[in-house]
Amino acid sequence: MTSSQRSRLAASWATALALALTLVSGPALAADPKDATLSREDQACLECHAKPGLRKTLANGETLPLYIAPQPFAESRHAREGCEGCHSQIDTATHGKPGNEQKLASKRSHAVESMETCRDCHQKTMKKYDDSVHWALVKTGSAKAPLCADCHNPHATKSTKEANAADDALCRQCHEKVTQAFTASVHGTDGENLECKDCHRTHDVKAATVGDHLRGQCLSCHKETAATHASWLPNAGRHLEAVSCAACHAPNATRRVDLRIHEARGEKAAEKVGVPQFVQFTSSASGKGGLDGRALWSLLQDLSRGNGDDSRTFVRGRLEVQTGVEAHSLAAKGKALKDCATCHRKGAAAFQSVTVSMIGADGRPLRQGASQGILNSVESIGSVAGFYAIGGTRIKLLDALLVMALAGGVLLPGAHLAMKVISARRRKAADQRTSDSD
Ligand code: HEC
Ligand code: HEC
Ligand code: HEC
Ligand code: HEC
Ligand code: HEC
Ligand code: HEC
Ligand code: HEC
Ligand code: HEC
Ligand code: HEC
Repeated sequence: MTSSQRSRLAASWATALALALTLVSGPALAADPKDATLSREDQACLECHAKPGLRKTLANGETLPLYIAPQPFAESRHAREGCEGCHSQIDTATHGKPGNEQKLASKRSHAVESMETCRDCHQKTMKKYDDSVHWALVKTGSAKAPLCADCHNPHATKSTKEANAADDALCRQCHEKVTQAFTASVHGTDGENLECKDCHRTHDVKAATVGDHLRGQCLSCHKETAATHASWLPNAGRHLEAVSCAACHAPNATRRVDLRIHEARGEKAAEKVGVPQFVQFTSSASGKGGLDGRALWSLLQDLSRGNGDDSRTFVRGRLEVQTGVEAHSLAAKGKALKDCATCHRKGAAAFQSVTVSMIGADGRPLRQGASQGILNSVESIGSVAGFYAIGGTRIKLLDALLVMALAGGVLLPGAHLAMKVISARRRKAADQRTSDSD
């Protein structure tokens, strides 16, 4: 709605309501300095709340301003719901009178509680939000993740058509650096002007590096990707799975290998048992230059045991960029990484930086740096066998080990290690089948 449409609508409301009010209560109220489009109940609230100085001090010492501007409220989408539409718990008989002060712990806790009222009328949107990483962050104590009111002022709610124009500004208030990188990228320039929600959506924003949803978004617009890449890239399907799009399309990015701990049934299941174990292992490893092959191996053993089923925890490797800014710095195709040797060469830079990660309680990955040699260590073969582009020597080593294992002539420290190599391969094949059939 344009502002002139809005004021026209407000004006017609004003006329209708002024008429109604004149009939009900005589002209005195309509001439009140407060907006005449408001119901009498709302005007009663605003007797006090339209006083600019009204505020209260909260238990933690913060000041909560209690001023509500009447005009924007009268013009908002919620004018018809009235104050009571959202503040139904207020008892008008006692509210605001001396001696009836409410104890409020902090602005944040008040805001989180107040948000529950949106549930009464916007169930669908709330359901999406309940599924988002932002809500998971709120639940686990983040003081910064957005609540409804951070994007929709409840006392001046605009139609979302108007809000739409400012979508990215809404995300930008908290994700400044990412937004800058995005604006300068191939998607933010040349009149393409994608918006954050084209990939992340608005209310059910998911953790960025969890699952395949973001790659799915890329492929939903770039439908030919598999075919065009296969024309020059052998085993393109495997590359598109093991290498993030940005790792090739953000030309100046620093890359790393992330080894994500999964469970056969999905990424999250290990959370309850797994997170404390992960934290324990990784904090003892961080003193020693990162998690090494042996530590990773025993962590996986431990996690599997915690599940009561030895086969359920495994690791999947992915070559990715290191920062969120880099993930958005996509350039035109001419600048994309095409040289095989950048990755397939002994000592390739991308494989020198390795993290081990696992999904934490807020839905985002917990990460731990791994020691430099982890991808090449014999001790980690059982754990990282599904990911071995690591230069010619690496592949030869693994293949040699596998041949030995298959022949039964195992020279490894323990036969279970070799078994793990084989079963990891089988699992990989099985995974591939399931993902092919989606
Ligand atoms: C659409 C729902 C909704 C309506 C309608 C609404 N409020 Fe609110 N109100 C809220 C929410 C949510 C908060 C908590 C905002 C926050 O701080 O995040 C709030 C907070 C407040 C506060 C505390 C100060 C603050 O900003 O946190 C006052 C005072 C208040 N409302 C008064 C009113 C009055 C008076 C009206 C009618 C003129 C009204 N509200 C209409 C949802 C609403
Ligand atoms: C007589 C003046 C007065 C009127 C009328 C009044 N308020 Fe208040 N309101 C206050 C005062 C004073 C406070 C701070 C009270 C406190 O410290 O607990 C307050 C606090 C609030 C708060 C902050 C949260 C809380 O519960 O402390 C909200 C929300 C609120 N009022 C909404 C309303 C609504 C909605 C109406 C109309 C139904 C209304 N008020 C009518 C004086 C008033
Ligand atoms: C990060 C900003 C942001 C947050 C947080 C947010 N919204 Fe929205 N909301 C928007 C934008 C932008 C739109 C416009 C439509 C779109 O982009 O999906 C919108 C649209 C809406 C709509 C219109 C219908 C629809 O679903 O598209 C409703 C209703 C709504 N939001 C309610 C809520 C409620 C309730 C919450 C809290 C659970 C909330 N919003 C949290 C930004 C936000
Ligand atoms: C008592 C019911 C009620 C409550 C509670 C309520 N809303 Fe609404 N809301 C409505 C109605 C009715 C509309 C107008 C619907 C329309 O315009 O299609 C609306 C419109 C909106 C819109 C604009 C949607 C659009 O498409 O233009 C947003 C955004 C919104 N509400 C957010 C919120 C938020 C955030 C809260 C909680 C602070 C909230 N609402 C609480 C009833 C409610
Ligand atoms: C009021 C602040 C705020 C707003 C508004 C906001 N976010 Fe966030 N968001 C956060 C915080 C805090 C986190 C936690 C991680 C961080 O600090 O980046 C987060 C996390 C995320 C994540 C997950 C990051 C990860 O590590 O996986 C994504 C994706 C995201 N936001 C996208 C968006 C999008 C898209 C919008 C606009 C629709 C938006 N955010 C609006 C505060 C906000
Ligand atoms: C073209 C799709 C796309 C668009 C549009 C997009 N993003 Fe992202 N975003 C991604 C991808 C892909 C990742 C990283 C996933 C990964 O590392 O695998 C990401 C990651 C993030 C993260 C997590 C960063 C971190 O530190 O890990 C945030 C926050 C985020 N995006 C916010 C935004 C905001 C804000 C906008 C709008 C300015 C936006 N995104 C637009 C695709 C997009
Ligand atoms: C191994 C590196 C690599 C990976 C991984 C990769 N790309 Fe590319 N991509 C390229 C190169 C190089 C080109 C340019 C090819 C040419 O035209 O010479 C390209 C071209 C493109 C183009 C331009 C049109 C076309 O298809 O030729 C799009 C769009 C694209 N890639 C999207 C993606 C998406 C989406 C992903 C992730 C699902 C992805 N790429 C993963 C290297 C990669
Ligand atoms: C909403 C649709 C949409 C989504 C989602 C999307 N893109 Fe794009 N992308 C475009 C458009 C439109 C262009 C510019 C026109 C073109 O070259 O196809 C573009 C351009 C590109 C280019 C440059 C192509 C060239 O010819 O130079 C690359 C690379 C690219 N996108 C990669 C990605 C990646 C990676 C993702 C996921 C993180 C993604 N895109 C998500 C619409 C989208
Ligand atoms: C951005 C880094 C990168 C680039 C560039 C790249 N690759 Fe790869 N490649 C990988 C990764 C990572 C894997 C690991 C897949 C795995 O472990 O299953 C891989 C796997 C392979 C495989 C083995 C596939 C399998 O079945 O396991 C071959 C063959 C291969 N790449 C050839 C190439 C060729 C030829 C090029 C150049 C045209 C190329 N790659 C460019 C990273 C890259």
